[in-house]
Amino acid sequence: MSFELKKSSVLDSILYQREVNTNVLIKKTENKSIFGYLNPLRIEPISQYRYRFFYWNISVILQVMDNFLISPKEVKEHLVSKNDGYLLVDIREEHEYKDWNIKGSMNLPVNSLIVAGNFLELRDILKSLPKDKFIVTICQRGINSQVAASILREMDYNAVALEKGMKGWNENFDLYKIEFTDFILDQFVRIGKGCLSYIVYDNNDSSAAIFEPSIFVGEYEDYISSNGLKIKYVIDTHAHADHFSGAMELARKYHTDYHINETDVDNVFEFKSLKGVKEITFGKVKIEILPTPGHTDGSLSFLINNEALICGDLLLLESPGRPDLARTKEETVKGAEILFNTLQNVIFKLNDNVKIFPAHFTKTELRPVTMTLSELKQKSEGLAISDKNKFIEFLTSNIPMTPPNYESIKRFNKAGVMIPLDYAEDLEIGPNRCAAR
Ligand SMILES: [Fe+2]
Repeated sequence: MSFELKKSSVLDSILYQREVNTNVLIKKTENKSIFGYLNPLRIEPISQYRYRFFYWNISVILQVMDNFLISPKEVKEHLVSKNDGYLLVDIREEHEYKDWNIKGSMNLPVNSLIVAGNFLELRDILKSLPKDKFIVTICQRGINSQVAASILREMDYNAVALEKGMKGWNENFDLYKIEFTDFILDQFVRIGKGCLSYIVYDNNDSSAAIFEPSIFVGEYEDYISSNGLKIKYVIDTHAHADHFSGAMELARKYHTDYHINETDVDNVFEFKSLKGVKEITFGKVKIEILPTPGHTDGSLSFLINNEALICGDLLLLESPGRPDLARTKEETVKGAEILFNTLQNVIFKLNDNVKIFPAHFTKTELRPVTMTLSELKQKSEGLAISDKNKFIEFLTSNIPMTPPNYESIKRFNKAGVMIPLDYAEDLEIGPNRCAAR
């Protein structure tokens, strides 16, 4: 007896053993479903994902994919391995796609046809897709993309939908390790949302601080336990408006305090204020705390052993941070002026070799997401403006759209409220939009 499971990248996540007259075991690692079939007489493929197992008087159909969804992690791994058998098809409207998409995907805006139930036209458009690719359909929350994938399968395509759509894509992280003399800085890059968080630790005694953690706290917990780190501080540079902070949850888990400047939060929950605190230390790591207002009134930056600066949204690689969120027009102009003063009086006084680590990125493809201060001075258009009024004009004209649901997100963060993950993910859908340009 011999049979073959057709290989695809999705099937790569399925371990199977194939030996004549022994067990057939198919184990899907992602959703933990395990199928075991003993000694079938014959196996016939029905399609790439369905097989009929024949016994003496019965036959069993085995579907090796039980839901035709592909996880965001699997898609990310594919993008890393550059397996060109994949075709990522984003079915959202053109403006949604242009605003925020998965690099390497194509846009086929058929979502409205699904909503309208115009399946005739939908099928006609879907026909343009190549048959020899493994198609992953993508929408905002992973619902209509399942309809598109299902219709494609009816049309004899190999198609699955990205689980939870762009909302799910936000769960993906890349990790970069940057070594300094006495400490290591790990940059967690949330590739969909464009958020950055950090774990800084002494490379001898493993004492550590976490900065700007997202709500996907498992990412940090896994890293912390596999590296034996001892968490001493959990810190936010400011109250974020584009994403939920996981700092409260992590502080509780590691029996430490949540640290933030009291200026940026409501005094209604337990935290340790960093207002007026000049420095914190652990192991050989000395962190100077610099008040760097502008993006928000309470924004702080953290100068680590005079080699690295974690600066929140004060300064992104593409542009200084936007000064307008949760502010009136007049306050926005004032915020831009404060930001200018912070750059001139605090940031430009730092050593040019200091590496800058922002809280977000937008367009840059630089990995890890960092530049020295001198590189940034050369490359950032905003930093080259030495005239205060011109800088204010630069920062306050053509400000991009606000981050989705920023008022709610900021309100929750300011009050230290932890909300269920799924709700948080819903509110966070979309890019971070924290740069002024
Ligand atoms: Fe921010």
